[in-house]
Amino acid sequence: MKQIIANILLIGASLLAVLPALALESPVGRSVMVVGHRGASGYAPENTMAAFRMAHAQSADMIELDVYMSADGHLVVIHDKDVDRTTDGQGSIETMTVEQIKQLDAGAWLKQEFAGERVPTLDEVLEWAKHRIMVNIEIKGAGCEEQIVELVKKHEMTDKVIVSSFHHEYLAKIKKLDPAIATGALFGDPMDLNEIIEACHPDAINPKYTLVTKEMVTQAHALGLQVNVYTVNDPLSMKQMIKFKVDSIITNFPDMLIKQTDKNKKGKRPPATEAG
Ligand code: G3P
Ligand code: MG
Repeated sequence: MKQIIANILLIGASLLAVLPALALESPVGRSVMVVGHRGASGYAPENTMAAFRMAHAQSADMIELDVYMSADGHLVVIHDKDVDRTTDGQGSIETMTVEQIKQLDAGAWLKQEFAGERVPTLDEVLEWAKHRIMVNIEIKGAGCEEQIVELVKKHEMTDKVIVSSFHHEYLAKIKKLDPAIATGALFGDPMDLNEIIEACHPDAINPKYTLVTKEMVTQAHALGLQVNVYTVNDPLSMKQMIKFKVDSIITNFPDMLIKQTDKNKKGKRPPATEAG
C-alpha cells in the first residue's frame, strides 16, 4: 500500500514538473507570443501610451514595460533610474514626486510628432490594457512588489500578466504575496536553471536570446518553465528562436515578428481598431 501511495505521489510530482504552472498563451493562437518591448519601441517613444497603443494596433499579444517607484510612492513606467534620457527633464525617479514626473515630456526626444506624451503610471497602463492586451511588468526599482500585486488585483489581470525581474528576490516576494501571479526570471549571463528555481520558483525564465539553445528550451520546459526571450530585433534571430520553440519573443518591432509567426487563428480576437 505504501509503495502504491509513493508511486502515485511520484507520478503527480513528475506531471507537475512538465506542466508550466501558470502558462500564458497567445489569445490569437500563435505558437510564440509576440511581446512589444517597452511597447512598439522601434516606432514610438519607449514606455509611453503611444508605444503601447502601437503594439496593440500591430496586434502584439503582450506589452513589456519597466517599473520604478516615485518619491511619493507611485509606480511609474520608465526604463532608466532617472528621467534624463527619455524625457526633457533631469533627475532620479526615486527622488521625484509623480506630479513632477508627470510634467515632463516623454515623447519629443524621439520625434516631434510624439511631443506631449507623458510618463505613465502602472495604474494608467493596466487600466488601458485590461480587455486589450497582456502585460509583462518588469520590476526595476526596489519596493514595488506590494503595489504591483494590489494593482494587478484591482484591474483583475491576474491571468493576463507576468511579473519579471533581473532581481530574483523581488520575484520570490511576488510569489509569496500572490502565488497566482506568474513570474519570469530575467538573466543576461549564463545561469543554472535549478539555482533560479531554488531562488524564486518562477513560472518562466526570461533569458537574453543570445544565451538560448535548443537544449536550454528543452530543459526549461521539462522543469515546467516557459521561455521568454529578450530582445530580438532581426528576422533571422526571430526565426531561430521560433525553431527553438521558445514561448514568447520580446521585440521592439512586433509587426516584424508577426510576419515570422504566421500562426494566427482568425476570430479569437477582433482586430485592433481604437485609436485611443
Ligand atoms: O524584459 C526584457 C527586457 O526588457 C530586459 O532588459 O534593459 O530592456 O529592461 P531591459
Ligand atoms: Mg525591460
